[in-house]
Amino acid sequence: MASPSSSFENHLPRRVITGRGISQSLAAVCQANGWHRPFIVSDSGVASAGLLGPVALPLRAETFTEVPPEPPIDVVDTIAARLKTSGADVVIALGGGSVMDAAKVASLCAWHGKTAREFVGIGKAGGRGLPTVLIPTTAGTGSEATFVAILTDPATGNKVGVVDPCMLADIAIVDPALTDGLPAHITAAAGMDALVHAIEGFIAKVATPLARGLALEASRRIGQSLEVVCREPGNTDARDGMAIGSHLAGMTFANSSCCAVHALALPLGGRFHIPHGVITGCFAGEMMRHNAPVCADDFATLAVALGWGALDATAFASRLDAIAASIGLRTQLRQTSVLSDSIATMARDAVAIRRLMDPNPREVTETDAVRIYQSVLNCA
Ligand SMILES: [Fe+2]
Repeated sequence: MASPSSSFENHLPRRVITGRGISQSLAAVCQANGWHRPFIVSDSGVASAGLLGPVALPLRAETFTEVPPEPPIDVVDTIAARLKTSGADVVIALGGGSVMDAAKVASLCAWHGKTAREFVGIGKAGGRGLPTVLIPTTAGTGSEATFVAILTDPATGNKVGVVDPCMLADIAIVDPALTDGLPAHITAAAGMDALVHAIEGFIAKVATPLARGLALEASRRIGQSLEVVCREPGNTDARDGMAIGSHLAGMTFANSSCCAVHALALPLGGRFHIPHGVITGCFAGEMMRHNAPVCADDFATLAVALGWGALDATAFASRLDAIAASIGLRTQLRQTSVLSDSIATMARDAVAIRRLMDPNPREVTETDAVRIYQSVLNCA
């Protein structure tokens, strides 16, 4: 069992507002905080789903809706330039993880007058940026609750991280109604990613007592809701459960860490452009099988929280595999052909991501990483 650190800090957004339909009160929230020149960051998918208009129009806000998936680092500089010329006094992100991550870093760039590249790494912010309001439209990344932003370096194709508590949101608004119309394949991938956040945040060597508690409540809600919402997309109770569960799972790893599943996901996602949640969902079972010898107690505790009853560690890992298959993630993964001669390089790159590998409860060697990639990708 991972032993929580004896000294720790808690990292949370300054304020969290949750509730079905609560995003409609955004104009009042801005007014109450003295923000009069809001700037909205979003993407074309959110705009075409009809979510942007009801938020942007009452605010008369300027908008930037061109954040691409896996946002390249340069797009952050473009947003920052727009923020400066608009005289914005608050950045509102309306979207999934890509949108929120881009907005978090852009708020730093605009305030400090630096490029996004200058913030890559851990603890490079040097102070908070423009105020941020983060509003997720998917239930998965938990980015509204974290101080991590993942961007893509177009020069290398590698994913890079900006990690600094100064990026914690001024306000996170979690409105489950914004997820009601999400397509099934995104609901499944994002939801399984949230489950992996809760599991890895619980078992990480650096998990704080707060993170351990948050992980169990996140697991309880996700366990009740994930498979239901994939079967019944119109089930609003399940949508609510996933929205709050994924938010709590984001808070979990903000006060702990993600681990080896996420380390394996970064090189694979960067090279082959597979959705992040598809990868973490498909790799969770095999990695937990690897972790099983040192995680028996933790997996037993998580299994009960998830509503799975008494399971041993191997059965816990198999249950994760079964869910990934039943909600269609294995099918999504098979749609991309991964070149097997990339595995050695990806394994080397994954093991080098020490911020994710060091907290993993059991060491993952390069040989282990090759075996796990081969096993999951069926390239053996
Ligand atoms: Fe994730």
